[in-house]
Amino acid sequence: MTLTVKNIGSGYGDRGIIDEISFTVPSGTIMALFGHNGAGKSTTLRALLGLLPLSQGSISLDEHRIDKLSVSDRIEKGLRLLPEGRGVFPDLTVAENLSVVAAANCKKGTDRTAGTTIEKVYSLFPVLADKRNLQAGNMSGGQQQMLAFGLAILGSPRCVLLEEPSVGLQPDLVEELFGYFRVICREHDMSAILIEHRITSALKIVDDVLILNNGRVVYHDNVEATRNHDIWQYF
Ligand SMILES: Nc1ncnc2c1ncn2[C@@H]1O[C@H](COP(=O)(O)OP(=O)(O)OP(=O)(O)O)[C@@H](O)[C@H]1O
Ligand SMILES: [Mg+2]
Repeated sequence: MTLTVKNIGSGYGDRGIIDEISFTVPSGTIMALFGHNGAGKSTTLRALLGLLPLSQGSISLDEHRIDKLSVSDRIEKGLRLLPEGRGVFPDLTVAENLSVVAAANCKKGTDRTAGTTIEKVYSLFPVLADKRNLQAGNMSGGQQQMLAFGLAILGSPRCVLLEEPSVGLQPDLVEELFGYFRVICREHDMSAILIEHRITSALKIVDDVLILNNGRVVYHDNVEATRNHDIWQYF
């Protein structure tokens, strides 16, 4: 689904952090969200998911406004977040993590066999299949990150927000994962936002690049144009 963000502002309490942010992520495409530490990237994703209220602006998935919906209703509409840090249930086993999320998707009327299945996640990350009966919190950081990524793409999400999915993963796995992610975005008409400090790897799979500085958009263009642009000046 196409994610359309118009002129949003958000922050914490009275403290405005992001302002006048607008962009569109067409169905099947990925937008990189870059910016220095504290630029407002995580704040933007939290506002999109509804964890923070908007002070202004609108958010739509295809033609439907979602900015007045609760977090759970936005998830029901197909929005997913792979949060910063480890987005897994540490006390549940690997298999339980996957089945809990698959069941939650299912309850919301999603076909359990549609899109990315648990078996598909296991085939993507064989180590997760080997450790399916281990508590997720007892796996290595990289293995937990693989599971978090698996949970974010499970089922048929419509728009996925990924925060530093490569943290803790070895470089060859990052490229493989990114390549796979690009394919599923295309195949499932999913849109995605990718926050990633591995800029060069991210540029290989994204369609558009948006850069924030102090909560404002300072650069927004397609990836071809970005390759000929000195984006490092914004960091
Ligand atoms: N819970 C919070 N309460 C108050 N201010 C916050 C909170 N979280 C973040 N901020 C502030 O909001 C600003 C933007 O932070 P944000 O986490 O969005 O940056 P970021 O671009 O994700 O940075 P990083 O690359 O370090 O993850 C920072 O100045 C930060 O101090
Ligand atoms: Mg952040």
